[in-house]
Amino acid sequence: MTLIAKTVWLLILVALIVGVAIGYGISIPEKQALQSKLQGLEQASKQVSQIQSELQKLSQENEQLKKQVSELQKKLNPNYVENIKARGKLIVGTSADWPPFEYVNEKGQIVGIDIEIAKRIAKELDVELEIKDMKFAALIEALKNGLIDMILADMTPTPEREQVVDFSIPYYFSKGNALITLKGKEVKSVDELKGKKVGVQLGTIQEEWAKENLKDIAEVVSYDKVYPDMVMVLKRGDVDAIIVGDKIGNVLVKRDPDLTIAMYVGGEQVGGAVAIPQGAEDLKFVVNKVIDELMTSGELKKIFDNEIAEWLGIS
Ligand code: ARG
Repeated sequence: MTLIAKTVWLLILVALIVGVAIGYGISIPEKQALQSKLQGLEQASKQVSQIQSELQKLSQENEQLKKQVSELQKKLNPNYVENIKARGKLIVGTSADWPPFEYVNEKGQIVGIDIEIAKRIAKELDVELEIKDMKFAALIEALKNGLIDMILADMTPTPEREQVVDFSIPYYFSKGNALITLKGKEVKSVDELKGKKVGVQLGTIQEEWAKENLKDIAEVVSYDKVYPDMVMVLKRGDVDAIIVGDKIGNVLVKRDPDLTIAMYVGGEQVGGAVAIPQGAEDLKFVVNKVIDELMTSGELKKIFDNEIAEWLGIS
């Protein structure tokens, strides 16, 4: 081989080596750049998933806040009236054993003073009226559970009841509780009830009074229904006396000559009011308006007179 040829081969070899070296030299920083890019991307994707989970948390909090806001709104601006109107029917709970406020007449209809007031409230709301008859002691629970829209059952507002329901303005005042006995078996003082049996309605203020004031004196027996059940047990001699409200006491003794009001116990107090769900301000407004109008127009007195006469069979 000539020198020239050798030189050429050498040059070619050198060029090849240089070429490879240059290529390699270029590829290292590229790789590094790619690696750092990759790292950057990994970090970015971590950040993205972090942001995503934060967003999720925020949207959960948002949902919770929305719920709280709507609950608050409901409290401030309750929609009881709206719901009753949408349903087209007012559902009133009562305990139809308490003439002349609510009782079952000969035709099997539930009638009385409270039913007349309920009719006026339904009219004001421009809806139909449905009466649900149940045990007096079950009424507050039924109202709390939304089974009924309101209670009209000659219910007296008491501090304990006010803790779980709201009350309208009262629609009459009471002379106190009437203690009824058979004629000829009258008792004139609480002490004379010593060792006797006294009937009261379960869940009423009369029961509360008896349990407080007759303990260690008389045996207090509670019943679900007053008329006719409690009147019957009195007449049969199962109990010696029954304690009821003054108005019902009055009409019971007028219709049954065997019975008499032996005495009043417990003192004067507010009579009945309409019980509505707690916070149902919109409904309370309507009920109070109706009661107020009935009282100022004198119509409520007419309702009382009519319903008492109706029960006594005079009209
Ligand atoms: N006024 C009493 C009370 O609120 C008795 C009412 C009983 N009413 C009836 N419908 N039985 O406890």
